[in-house]
Amino acid sequence: MLRAANSRARAAASDLHLFRRLLSNVPEATVYGGPKPQSPNQRFTLTNLRQKHRHGEPITVVTAYDYPSAVHVDCAGIDVCLVGDSAAMVVHGHDTTLPISLDEMLVHCRAVARGASRPLLVGDLPFGSYESSTSQAVQSAVRMLQEGGMDAIKLEGGAPSRIMAAKAIVEAGIAVMGHVGLTPQAISVLGGFRPQGKNVTSAIKVVETALALQEAGCFSVVLECVPSPVAAAATSALQIPTIGIGAGPFCSGQVLIYHDLLGMFQHPHHAKVSPKFCKQYGNVGDVINKALLEYKQEVESKSFPGPRHTPYKINPEDVAMFHDELMKRGLIESFKAAASAVHSSETPTEPTN
Ligand code: KIV
Repeated sequence: MLRAANSRARAAASDLHLFRRLLSNVPEATVYGGPKPQSPNQRFTLTNLRQKHRHGEPITVVTAYDYPSAVHVDCAGIDVCLVGDSAAMVVHGHDTTLPISLDEMLVHCRAVARGASRPLLVGDLPFGSYESSTSQAVQSAVRMLQEGGMDAIKLEGGAPSRIMAAKAIVEAGIAVMGHVGLTPQAISVLGGFRPQGKNVTSAIKVVETALALQEAGCFSVVLECVPSPVAAAATSALQIPTIGIGAGPFCSGQVLIYHDLLGMFQHPHHAKVSPKFCKQYGNVGDVINKALLEYKQEVESKSFPGPRHTPYKINPEDVAMFHDELMKRGLIESFKAAASAVHSSETPTEPTN
């Protein structure tokens, strides 16, 4: 009887050993877990946007450029997520928005589309992707939807050719957001990042251009860097919502750039170009800098990773066999390194991290 019990115990131990060995390839619990967007609601559509506008409820817009920023925008319940060509500056580190290409914008758009399932997604047509002809404009807009996963596009300016482009894109079945006032793609003719609408001629031009974009079929118009009375006049003249940025409080909604509102100002360009109108709702740049410095110090002082962040174990039988295998192969130093690691992981230390 004793012999039978011993043999059952040996069989159980061997099963356990086999089980552990099988498990040694399996990730422990979840090694990586991606963030889950909080999207209890369905996509915010143009119908929702129009409803909000009709009810006088402010429309919220924030830019995003990649998967994490898109998830943040989604989780915050922002209505519209704009994949702005400001990516050229805040993500790629250029001085202006001009260098970014349509192909580069499409990479940003796809990442944002994966991360933001609720907001209406608007992709900015970059400089050089819609000025040559209406067919170029339509082709670029189609790519934004087909390849970028966007719901709508935005284009800048109100010259007759831009109005024609907006109309052609809408006729192709693609929703268009206009953009007047300071249009950063036009800094060459504007003479830099300058507010617009500061004299009568310029103020009237802002209102008339916004009206022309509405006439062309745009669903909304961004008003950038114009005095608030000019934005108020345009908002009152239009039946479609205005989205202000540096245009004061009398717009139908507001847009800010993700990095600006979060206070990610560590890029040297930001010191030069961070706009006066932007309210900083966080100090994320400081948080990032502090965390990176702390990480660097802990790696250099060898206090990271400590026991708490060294989670993967190898069972004693496997360690013994591993040691044997190393010795068989003549890897003496490796054997010593592994043995010393076993010893130090068994020696109780203060779990500092
Ligand atoms: O590119 C962008 O982020 C924009 C906003 C400033 C409206 O056009």
